[in-house]
Amino acid sequence: MTRFTLNGKPVDTALPDDTPLLWVLRDGLDLTGTKFGCGMGLCGACTVHLDGQPIRSCSTPLSAAAGKRITTIEGVGSGRVGAAVQKAWQKLDVVQCGYCQSGQIMAATALLAAKPRPSDADIDAAMGGNLCRCATYVRIRAAIHEAAK
Ligand code: FES
Repeated sequence: MTRFTLNGKPVDTALPDDTPLLWVLRDGLDLTGTKFGCGMGLCGACTVHLDGQPIRSCSTPLSAAAGKRITTIEGVGSGRVGAAVQKAWQKLDVVQCGYCQSGQIMAATALLAAKPRPSDADIDAAMGGNLCRCATYVRIRAAIHEAAK
C-alpha cells in the first residue's frame, strides 16, 4: 500500500510501486485532467507537482510519491498562484485544442511559485519542455506575465 497526499487529501493505493504515477492518477484515482502525450518524459502533457516541483508523471513511479504531496490540475487552482495562472489562461484565451494545457498550467504555476516576476528568458527556460502542437506559445508567455501582475 502506498500512501501520499493528493490535492491536499490523503490517499492510499494498492497499485504496484513501479506503476507510472500518471496511470495511478488517471486509472487508479479517476483524475483524468493529467494527460498522456508521449509516455517518455518528452512532451510535458503529464506534468504534475511533487512537493511543489514539476515532474513528468508518465516517467515517475508511484514509489517516488510515497509520503509526498502530489498536486494535479484538479487541485492546483486552490493555491493562490495556481488560481492566478488559471484566471490568466481564461482571460487571454490561451487554449486551442487544450490537450497539453493542464501540463502547461502546472509548469507555469511551478515557475511563478519559484520566480514571481519571470523574464521571457525565464519563461522559455521553464516552459521549453512543454510542447504544444497548436503552437499557443505566444499566448502562454503572455498569460504567465499576466498571472505575475
Ligand atoms: Fe509524460 Fe509526454 S506524456 S512527458
